[in-house]
Amino acid sequence: MPEEIEEIKEPAEYDFNQKHLLGLAHYSSEDILYVLDQARYFREILDRPVPKVPTLRDKTIVNLFYESSTRTRLSFELAQKRMGADVVNFSAKASSVSKGESLKDTIRNISSMKIDMVVVRHESPGVPHFLTRCVDAAIINAGDGAHEHPTQALLDMYSMRQIHPDLEEKNIAIIGDIAHSRVVRSNIIGLTKVGANVTVCGPKTLMPVYVEDLGAEVSYNLEETLEWCDVAMALRIQQERQEDGTELFPSIREYHQKFGITMKHLEKYPDFTVMHPGPVNRGVEMESEVADSDRSIILSQVTNGVAVRMAILYLLSGGTRV
Ligand code: CP
Repeated sequence: MPEEIEEIKEPAEYDFNQKHLLGLAHYSSEDILYVLDQARYFREILDRPVPKVPTLRDKTIVNLFYESSTRTRLSFELAQKRMGADVVNFSAKASSVSKGESLKDTIRNISSMKIDMVVVRHESPGVPHFLTRCVDAAIINAGDGAHEHPTQALLDMYSMRQIHPDLEEKNIAIIGDIAHSRVVRSNIIGLTKVGANVTVCGPKTLMPVYVEDLGAEVSYNLEETLEWCDVAMALRIQQERQEDGTELFPSIREYHQKFGITMKHLEKYPDFTVMHPGPVNRGVEMESEVADSDRSIILSQVTNGVAVRMAILYLLSGGTRV
């Protein structure tokens, strides 16, 4: 496990004037670094015997989840409760959406209940942006289709900075199902803004053309990529987005042989850190032992996710940190 940064300095004064978090494309490098610096304060709170602050005491937040989620949904809810907010959880499956109610009507009805913030996950790209035109509340994107997952990228960057406090010129490899990933888009956007070098690696059939336009290099060679990188973040193979689960490559076994991170890789290349946004397909993106090894910070990413979400909730609430 990497050493924690011990000293928590007050972030420098900065005029953070974002109203929403729709994607990292809308945030400057200064915005991103400011969120990450604020998150260090909230990360420290999580280690206290009573890990609570009243920062969002007067705020009401709706978590609007149209797609399944474990980490993001629980992490947002925990962050909100740690900050004293009133929290309402909306699950599309158990709502009037199943009776045909539109997204616009749903959000307008929820908004009539006087809410301050909406955290939304939806299978369609652009839904968080659409919601900004329907309600006054601050909107936070918790993942919209294959578009962006900004809080995931922020927590990934936070976790990388625990090991490499300055990400400028650090070499970050993102390996796996690039084509279906919103995590990769947000990470490339965020990491390149703060000066990191990003290489994406995976089968040609899972490599979309846009990654080079976003500023990432492309590699089809795992060995070369692992030799080059300081951090290797594996992505889940999204089998549910391929019709029979394997149509974009011959078999899961072959995928693992070509792109799976193994204990032999950890021995051969002793310097890179292993990350994964989860959920992990053990034995596919990496050997199970790799996920559990002392080179992996996968569970730290989850803990850091709560702190990063506390920071963004605080900044978008316009309140005081307390
Ligand atoms: N990393 C991530 O978004 O996980 P969930 O789908 O479980 O929220």
